[in-house]
Amino acid sequence: MRRYHVTTFGCQMNAHDSERIKGLLEDLGLGEAPTSEEADVVVFNTCTIREKPDTKLAAYLGEAAASKRRDPSKVIAVGGCYAEAQQERLFNLYPDVDVAFGPGSIAHLGDWLGAGGVGVARGRFGLDDRAFAAELPQHGERTHQAWVQVSMGCNSTCSYCIVPSVRGREQSRRPGDILAEVTNLAATGVREITLLGQNVNSWGRDLLPDIHTEFGELLRACDEVDGIERIRFTSPHPKDFREPVIAAMAECSAVCEQIHLPLQSGSSRVLKAMRRTYDRDRYIALAHKLRDRIPDVALGTDIIVGFPGETDADFEETLAVVAEVGFESAFTFVYSPRSGTDAAVMDDQVPHELKIERMERLVELTQSIAKAKNEARIGRIEEVLVEGPSRTDETQLRGRTRRNTTVNFTGTAASGTLVDVSIESATSTTLRGRRVTADNDGVITGTTGRSGRL
Ligand code: SAH
Ligand code: SF4
Ligand code: F3S
Repeated sequence: MRRYHVTTFGCQMNAHDSERIKGLLEDLGLGEAPTSEEADVVVFNTCTIREKPDTKLAAYLGEAAASKRRDPSKVIAVGGCYAEAQQERLFNLYPDVDVAFGPGSIAHLGDWLGAGGVGVARGRFGLDDRAFAAELPQHGERTHQAWVQVSMGCNSTCSYCIVPSVRGREQSRRPGDILAEVTNLAATGVREITLLGQNVNSWGRDLLPDIHTEFGELLRACDEVDGIERIRFTSPHPKDFREPVIAAMAECSAVCEQIHLPLQSGSSRVLKAMRRTYDRDRYIALAHKLRDRIPDVALGTDIIVGFPGETDADFEETLAVVAEVGFESAFTFVYSPRSGTDAAVMDDQVPHELKIERMERLVELTQSIAKAKNEARIGRIEEVLVEGPSRTDETQLRGRTRRNTTVNFTGTAASGTLVDVSIESATSTTLRGRRVTADNDGVITGTTGRSGRL
């Protein structure tokens, strides 16, 4: 049997797309190989959000090319956002690549392989004729968590961001298609879904006049699906976080108390240059409102340091907003100019050393806040969805709380079950504890993440 291997870079949408690439290859009769070295078809699903993934890909492709020299029948395929950004140039940059496709043209890989590479173009890119990756076959592996694509593309014009040019304008999937998928996932044992879109909470707007709906209604509909215990979504845009979504979060028992709400900068001046369309005060007001309306909500964020023109004073404002909101988690990025974006050609690019210096200060702050937030969970009982053995200690189990914090714990439980864990210690990224049951603890006291809701 011929075998494939998929290496994934980038965001959750790419992780989702890679699952569908695997499903497509399995439909063609290929099996999964444990490493790309052992595979007959080697796929790279790429990202180009910053420069770093581009350089990482170059190293991976170098290795794949060396292995192809040993075995010329090996197929090297490159998909995803970097492929879409480079298009045909990709074949000049990396002559060993056999076939390439953009994020909206995944099916092309199947067409090309199916024809044995004969009579089918090596690359297919472009955004006019995109298809939802969600319409491709599912990957066979059994798991209790699943990504669900609700839209593709993005209508925002953030001045630093390459995504709209490689994923195109926003297009929502129809609610019936999404719900059919969620119902089907629940029937196969999936307990937790994460709804995905580049701007997930603007979902539905482009379905007008055919369908009149919005993201809050979608959350409510997913909450109704039997068997789905947890619903998450990423990434919402602060400008589109409207009342119906907040109300749905507060009222739907399966919707988790966790929101990833990208801030990007705490300076209104920088936010304007980034074209984020909200300012510092509006973001802070939204964060307070969310904490107020959704008890125990965990707020995560993305922050860019060293955007062109960012002064010390701007950066101090970012630190101040981080301290005021008190994020449970944060992804922090050094600004990376992307060719074709407006910010890449702005004057006043911040020197690299200054970006690094600011980054270090920001990370120190975000980590100390995250640590304090996690330490505040010690002594509580958290509902944990069991994922399997701990990555660091096989005698322990690993899972995540409703607030999306990883927990390593002692005790026995099957993957995919919900158990109560008493939290005993914490770091900035993980919790540790032990499973509590009526047997070993008599009566369970304390609060789970769910109590007090509904
Ligand atoms: N669609 C999502 C995420 C986009 S990419 C959203 O808008 O929230 C994930 C994160 O990468 C962004 O939130 C941003 O913080 C970061 N990012 C995007 N472009 C970047 C760039 N050119 N340099 C550094 N970080 C960037
Ligand atoms: Fe990029 Fe902005 Fe769209 Fe997010 S909202 S994908 S940062 S353009
Ligand atoms: Fe990267 Fe594309 Fe996602 S550029 S972050 S893989 S949308």
